This record gives sequence, C-alpha cells and structure tokens, in this order.
Amino acid sequence: MEQTMIESLQKFKDLDCKAEPLFFSFEGGEGSGKSTVLHSVGKMLSEKGYDVLITREPGGNSSGMSEEIRTLILSDKMAQMSPLTEAFLYAASRTQHIQEVIKPALQVGKIVLTDRYVDSSLVYQGLVWGNLAAVATINFLAIAGTMPATTLFFDVAPEIALVRVFAQRQEEINHLDKREISFHQDVYNGFKMLRNFFPQRYQTIDATRSLNLVIAEVYQCILSQIESGETSGNHTE
Ligand code: TYD
Repeated sequence: MEQTMIESLQKFKDLDCKAEPLFFSFEGGEGSGKSTVLHSVGKMLSEKGYDVLITREPGGNSSGMSEEIRTLILSDKMAQMSPLTEAFLYAASRTQHIQEVIKPALQVGKIVLTDRYVDSSLVYQGLVWGNLAAVATINFLAIAGTMPATTLFFDVAPEIALVRVFAQRQEEINHLDKREISFHQDVYNGFKMLRNFFPQRYQTIDATRSLNLVIAEVYQCILSQIESGETSGNHTE
C-alpha cells in the first residue's frame, strides 16, 4: 500500500483502542449476503434476550433524515453527481445516523448491527474512485470517534455474488446496479486491502458457503465478542 494511503487510514486505526464493543459493521460487495445474514442474526440475538438495533447505511433505521439522503443518493437523478458530492452525501447521511440512531443506542447498552458503515465510503468513494485522502478526511469528521470494534467482511468474489443479486432481486434496478464487473472487482479488492490494514477489527466470513452456515458463524462470532467484553449488553433471560 502506498504511503499516502497508509497515512489516510492510520487515523481510523488509532480509534481501535476506543472502539465500541457492542457495535458491529457488516461490509462487503453487492450480493455477499450480508443484509440477509444481519437480519437473521439480529433476530437470533433478540430471541436470546439481547436488546438489538438493526440499521443500515446509507440511511438508517429510525432516522428519517438519513433515509431521505439515501433516497437522494440512490435516485437516478443523481447518477451523474461528482464523486466528491457523492462522498459528502454518504458522509452527511452517516453523521445524522450516528447522532440520531447509533450513539443513543450504544449509550443504553444495545447491540448495534449496521449494514455498511464508514468502510464502504473508504472503499467505494475512496479506493475505487482514487480519492482516499479526501474521503478519509470527510469521514473522520463524520464519525466523530464512533467506530465498531468488529467489522464482519463477507468475502465472496463478485463473479459469484452478482449472480445471486440478479437471481434474487425484487426491488427496482437503480443506477448503482448498472456498474461493470471491473467496478465490483475493485470494490472486492478494496475491502481486502482494508481487511489487511485493520486486522484487529476485521473478521473475515467465507460468504461462498450456504446461508445457514454463514448465519451460524456470524452469530457465534458476535456472541463470543459480546460475552468476552467487559460491557455485556442489555440482556434479559
Ligand atoms: P444498498 O441498496 O443498500 O445495497 P447493498 O445490499 O449492496 O448494501 O445500496 C448501498 C449502495 O451504496 C452500495 O452500492 C454501496 C454504496 N455505498 C457507498 O458507495 N458508500 C457508502 O458509504 C455506503 C454506506 C454505501
């Protein structure tokens, strides 16, 4: 990795020591299965008695404002926006999401599972568009020190993942779905680069396996993280 990239990412690594133990981000490319797994695991944890908040980016659960920004980003009207505009919009949605949803939930001891977080910006807007320094700066401000202790990276090559996306798609196809395979390959390589840079925070999940196996592994991974932590989350038997 180039020196300038290392410098851009180092400030996020420095936050590892005060990362939130109950905060988990799910990252990976399209069709990696992370959203389905996240919802199943969230449900299993709730059934076990944990207080769980499921959220996503761009947008975010009960934050109407972040969801408005999501609608804007994903709309075809914005297909030609400049890369920097895009980076600011994702970061703006993230700031609102953190203040309104993530921080209040962590403060009352909830387990927070988010479908994408800052690493998506570092990869999609930063590494893929070759704009890492600016994107890292914007996002460092946006997250205001709030980092997950664990990032689950759903590792599956885009050639396999994209077949799933189009086989299972129920929603409308938007401008983000029309990107080339080389774009998805860059995204995949970007996440692998971050995984190598943040070995303490990253857990790699082999997402080529059956959904049930992946769900079981992610569930165990989160459970052992929660149970080994000093803060054990709100739990009712
Ligand atoms: P979404 O429909 O939520 O799909 P996915 O299941 O892949 O998460 O779309 C989110 C899209 O937004 C996805 O293409 C990745 C992109 N994205 C960024 O480019 N930067 C970001 O910071 C985030 C959070 C998402």
